[in-house]
Amino acid sequence: SRVKEAEFVKSSARARDCPKDDRPEFAVLGRSNVGKSSLINALIRRKEAALTSKKPGKTQTINHFLVNKSWYLVDLPGYGFAAASQSAQTDWSSFTKGYFLNRDTLVGVLLLVDASIPPQKIDLDCANWLGRNNIGLTFVFTKCDKSKKGKGGRPEENIKEFQETISSLYPEPPPWIMTSSVTGLGRDGLLLHMSQLRNY
Ligand code: GTP
Ligand code: MG
Repeated sequence: SRVKEAEFVKSSARARDCPKDDRPEFAVLGRSNVGKSSLINALIRRKEAALTSKKPGKTQTINHFLVNKSWYLVDLPGYGFAAASQSAQTDWSSFTKGYFLNRDTLVGVLLLVDASIPPQKIDLDCANWLGRNNIGLTFVFTKCDKSKKGKGGRPEENIKEFQETISSLYPEPPPWIMTSSVTGLGRDGLLLHMSQLRNY
């Protein structure tokens, strides 16, 4: 499950513009600013392969990164960005839904959830939508290095609360992993998990 090489391949504005080979891929999905692009950089050990920003809404296209010349990691725009216009939000859902429903080479979705804040309804809605469409997902809790005093400030507690809600929605709760793009927590475990999913 080691990353020997990785390269940016292309940015696509629409699902039908994505690479057309048969390599398996994992989509990285989650709210704007949850740390999708940062996670990809941490996984492939490149600082700025995927562009990141403090401001939400940085990634606006579908971005394919080829790992070990054999599989793709896909960086997607975030959802739930309140400042985005209604039409931008509508575009988001039609274009990413188009991608998820038509991408035959999709092995699974890494659904990123910010562990430094309490569970958000929009993440549960997203998990439900993927479940209803039989798209396999793994919860990747991000920002596990961030801890604040007070209610909703501790990653472990936020994750526990999220899991409890999920287990009431899913007969079999999806796999999950704790990560931090700052400390590298979870990196090797997540790479191993993806290598196992690719070989099923
Ligand atoms: P969009 O492209 O706008 O949807 O955002 P994104 O999900 O790609 O987030 P991005 O990777 O750009 O990160 C957003 C902010 O969170 C940046 O300021 C990152 O430095 C920060 N961040 C990302 N991951 C972590 C993490 O694990 N820990 C901490 N402390 N900060 C993180
Ligand atoms: Mg991004």
